[in-house]
Amino acid sequence: MTIKIGIVGAGAFGSIHLTGFSKNPSCQLVAIASRTEKHAKAASEKFQVPKVYAGNDSWKKMIDNEKLDVVSICTPNYLHAPIISKAIEKNCHILCEKPIAISREELRQIESELASKDLIFFTSFNKRYNPIFKLIKGTLDEGILGKITLVRYYFSHYGPYKSWEALSEEKWFFDSEKAGGGVLLDLGVHCIDILRYLIGEYDKVNGINFKTSCIQMEDEDNCNVLFQFKNDVPGLISVSWCNEPSETIDIFGTKGFIKVNLSGRNSPSFGPKSLKRNKLIKDLLKFKPASESAQNKLIDHFINCILTKKQESPNFSDGKKAVEFVLEAYSFKK
Ligand SMILES: NC(=O)c1ccc[n+]([C@@H]2O[C@H](COP(=O)([O-])OP(=O)(O)OC[C@H]3O[C@@H](n4cnc5c(N)ncnc54)[C@H](OP(=O)(O)O)[C@@H]3O)[C@@H](O)[C@H]2O)c1
Repeated sequence: MTIKIGIVGAGAFGSIHLTGFSKNPSCQLVAIASRTEKHAKAASEKFQVPKVYAGNDSWKKMIDNEKLDVVSICTPNYLHAPIISKAIEKNCHILCEKPIAISREELRQIESELASKDLIFFTSFNKRYNPIFKLIKGTLDEGILGKITLVRYYFSHYGPYKSWEALSEEKWFFDSEKAGGGVLLDLGVHCIDILRYLIGEYDKVNGINFKTSCIQMEDEDNCNVLFQFKNDVPGLISVSWCNEPSETIDIFGTKGFIKVNLSGRNSPSFGPKSLKRNKLIKDLLKFKPASESAQNKLIDHFINCILTKKQESPNFSDGKKAVEFVLEAYSFKK
């Protein structure tokens, strides 16, 4: 079976989706829609996509005119929900970049539209495909650290247009209407998704503090969120667009702790020293970052779910929980 793919958004992440779909033998790239014709054409030439749609309404025309099995969404955040709705209307499976929506109304709308259809929906939480998280989860599930007492996730880089080359000249990441928020909506959704996978469901957000310090924008470019998991574990997510690229996770339990540098540049640290004898801790210490792109793995998983008609994670509910977490945190700004 050949799965016909239409991509919306020919920017930085559009190229990454195009790479993933072009490598999957079950996929056929059929069309690309993007705002600026020059960008859409460049992507179509690079990835040999036969049909090109350009302009603000390009995605509507592409979804109406083409017979697509999948719509893959890589646009500014404010367009995710309308494009999802259009794709659902046309019975297309959906891969949507994070955050999948920017308001609770949008989430409710998508949820009700999906309920009556048998479509596969994937939220593009590519970090889940970093095998280190499976190793960390194994350590936690085996109780090696005892009962978990505290979790911290720190994630920073220099932001869009510096740490990676977001393409659109609109500079939409710094426009509240188009982005829906700041660094917390951009990076925090990844952090809460991974922590939900490792620790369990979150219960409530306790508060945030934030600052706009390095970027000319309305929303935050530095932010800390304090929250609580349902199993009473206190959590902290700290994200920044103004600092050295760095990503670490610290997990403390009644029997020990691990601190993992997720870029794999340094070995994890842990304590007490006796944990070194544990097989799972040894595996964590030996870990080397995978060479294969996490996004390609996510796309292969998504396509496999379509072929086997099985919805797996990261699904709509995962995307929704992450956005709700950020919106709950933002409610403390008022
Ligand atoms: N999963 C991850 O780790 C990850 C990492 C980075 C980004 N993302 C997500 O990916 C999405 C895109 O980010 P990006 O970095 O790729 O941004 P980008 O480089 O600015 O790309 C956005 C693209 O959307 C196009 N676009 C804008 N309005 C449109 C419209 N009305 N119709 C069709 N296309 C339109 C833009 O066209 P023009 O170029 O003509 O303006 C641009 O090509 C965001 O939601 C972001 O959060 C995810």
